[in-house]
Amino acid sequence: MLVLGLETSCDETGVALYDSERGLLADALFSQIDLHRAYGGVVPELASRDHVKRMLPLIRQVLAEAGCVPSQIDAVAYTAGPGLVGALLVGAACAQALAFAWGIPALGVHHMEGHLLAPMLEPQPPEFPFVALLVSGGHTQLVRVDGIGRYELMGESLDDAAGEAFDKTAKMMGLNYPGGPEIARLAAQGVEGRFVFPRPMCDRPGLDFSFSGLKTFALNTWQQCVGAGGDHEQARCDISLAFQQAVVETLTIKCKRALKQAGLKRLVIAGGVSANKALRVSLEKMLGDMKGDVYYARPQFCTDNGAMIAYAGCQRLQAGQQESLAISVQARWPMEQLSPL
Ligand SMILES: Nc1ncnc2c1ncn2[C@@H]1O[C@H](COP(=O)(O)OP(=O)(O)OP(=O)(O)O)[C@@H](O)[C@H]1O
Ligand SMILES: [Mg+2]
Repeated sequence: MLVLGLETSCDETGVALYDSERGLLADALFSQIDLHRAYGGVVPELASRDHVKRMLPLIRQVLAEAGCVPSQIDAVAYTAGPGLVGALLVGAACAQALAFAWGIPALGVHHMEGHLLAPMLEPQPPEFPFVALLVSGGHTQLVRVDGIGRYELMGESLDDAAGEAFDKTAKMMGLNYPGGPEIARLAAQGVEGRFVFPRPMCDRPGLDFSFSGLKTFALNTWQQCVGAGGDHEQARCDISLAFQQAVVETLTIKCKRALKQAGLKRLVIAGGVSANKALRVSLEKMLGDMKGDVYYARPQFCTDNGAMIAYAGCQRLQAGQQESLAISVQARWPMEQLSPL
């Protein structure tokens, strides 16, 4: 089955062609980062308008790269939520229109299920069951995964998502959007131990997270540095390192707890923050110590992309799932509401 996947939930237009027999045939992405940078975050209306501009050229591009023609496509999968409604509607309307014109089914895919399954596109994919840490710009969740659509939420952030905390911390130090890669870059030049940030909610049982206090701690530290004068460039690096260490250690502690609670030794990390090298190293060490394995996608499939939507859609379409021509998207959509395969 050949599936065209469309991703438009936020500020990336992603398109891909996935074949159930041959794997990923082509994928293309247009990132709107430059468009939103001046505003320090995503402007929803600008995002929607740009998706409209990029979608069809990207679809033509992946068809050409894969050497395919529309008549070979069996179905169209698109991100139906969660995300920005205007942005989602662009992908949904485009997918339904193409499916109608080509006389094939369309299927709305859950964006976080897409992220969660992205490591399945790698040469050594994880086997079920596993614990997944979803760490992105809008989500920080620990999920027990027993199969596609068989998700049990074990814990989540009570306030900011980890990626959001990276972005906000970077912004207040005058760094570019998105902040995660910027903080990671500066942290490499940070002085170990100059600042020590708290590890929120680690001193009590449970699997929930809270990152907004960490962001405030970083703000106070930054303001003290600015007030004291001196080398702001070094202060940025030292704060970035202390912040990253706190996030990484907190995520590692909670992943260890979740694996113990689930009685599992397989961990999947997905979403933009799973591209963070320090996080990968820390989780690999933890899993190494417990003789388990950690799985993640290649960096370009950690952040939003069309390949994960084409893959997730293909699994559900192959199992016979279909939907009507109605164009319906959801800004909020708990993953546990998905039907099991
Ligand atoms: N190397 C990195 N280290 C830390 N954070 C990173 C890194 N690379 C990307 N990020 C963060 O990942 C986030 C983007 O990831 P992603 O595209 O998965 O999120 P999103 O799609 O905006 O949110 P969601 O998937 O929850 O709707 C941003 O917050 C960004 O700062
Ligand atoms: Mg995302």
